[in-house]
Amino acid sequence: MRSPIPDYLAEVLADFASDTSGAPAGYIPELATADPERLGAVFAMVDGAVYGAGDVDIEFTIQSISKPFTYALALADRGFDTVLAKVGVEPSGEAFNEISLEGGSGRPLNPMINAGAITTHSLAGAEGMDAAQRLDHVVSGLSAFAGRRLSIDESVCSSEMEHAHRNLAIAHMLRSYNILTEDPAAVVEGYTRQCSLLVTARDLAVMAATLANHGVNPLSGERVVPEPVVRQVLSVMSTCGMYDAAGDWATQVGIPAKSGVAGGLIGALPGQIGIATFSPRLDAHGNSVRGVSLFGRFSSDMGLHVMEVPAAARSVVRSNYVVGAGPNAIRVLELQGGIRFAGAERVVREVMDTAPTEAPVALDLTMVYSIDDVARRMLLEIVRRLTLDGHDVYLIDPEFIIPDPDPGDGGRVSVVSSLGQVGSDAARRGRG
Ligand code: DON
Repeated sequence: MRSPIPDYLAEVLADFASDTSGAPAGYIPELATADPERLGAVFAMVDGAVYGAGDVDIEFTIQSISKPFTYALALADRGFDTVLAKVGVEPSGEAFNEISLEGGSGRPLNPMINAGAITTHSLAGAEGMDAAQRLDHVVSGLSAFAGRRLSIDESVCSSEMEHAHRNLAIAHMLRSYNILTEDPAAVVEGYTRQCSLLVTARDLAVMAATLANHGVNPLSGERVVPEPVVRQVLSVMSTCGMYDAAGDWATQVGIPAKSGVAGGLIGALPGQIGIATFSPRLDAHGNSVRGVSLFGRFSSDMGLHVMEVPAAARSVVRSNYVVGAGPNAIRVLELQGGIRFAGAERVVREVMDTAPTEAPVALDLTMVYSIDDVARRMLLEIVRRLTLDGHDVYLIDPEFIIPDPDPGDGGRVSVVSSLGQVGSDAARRGRG
């Protein structure tokens, strides 16, 4: 069978191909020469499957899409406190190149606007790195997100540097507030080189999928940044990634996203997918016109809005039954899926409503594929309380989804790999 997904992508591209509204970025002369007809879209799943249609392997400069990734590196390299002291997380509601600085401190409002991104560039890498070392660190970091070594488009870079008066002005303002502590021109050059990295839509989708996959590149398997960093970056992308169009985007598309003036656009839906589109004509906000349309379509066609999530908790208790009869009876609660707080709460209620009378109680985790920290602690508390009520509690856990379970004070649990083992253990104890 041929996968329907590339066919679907090609169909959606065809639907928007005739939209010629907007114009390629004009303020960087080299970008104005881009072929405005280019159009491509790529889906990268968090397990590494990649689908694309159209211009997926054409290189263009990453521009502002580099911002969330360099922010991630700075957070990972310097820690949250250092970065947050210099760059805020509030949406500015203004254009990307506004001098949006907090009154008094001069702190840029967020890392997605140029003022914040220039500062973030200066915070990437270890303290004390010189400009060249820092740039190399940024290139390596972004390359790790993409899963291949990225290179700089020197002609786009020098074209932008010749017209970088506004970014230089922003950097000098930042230096006057001591937000930047080094030569503003050198930082702008490093930031501009970062923006001039060449990527394809395929690279961008993999970079987005690395964010969607909790910081692990789904193709290389490399952990690029820690999970708390990813949470911070995606949060900021969802509130600030589309600049003064962020509210429209959040309500209509609902995927944490970032655009770039060369026509790239990425979205990262946690746990599911990284998406990238490429189309150089931009709207008044500096976002790709057809990219915005494609994302709107993908989101509504495939239910990708981050606020639309299935009622996972309801199906966590797959079945609740008794095997054996009389003194041989064993109560079994079969759980399934990914368990988080709301799922664990369902299990708590199921156990309370059942009020098992059978001495052995087995929680069967065979069909559970993930369990987060709070759910694990709640299940172990159920074990502890059942023990205190006089039950022999079993975890049927052949895949060790809860490694080394410790139910705490007064709790006791036996880990087995099948229901049959519960039966023989209960019989050996003479209960069940
Ligand atoms: O700082 C600049 O002006 C560019 N090199 C990057 C701007 C950008 O991509 C804005 N995003 N839509």
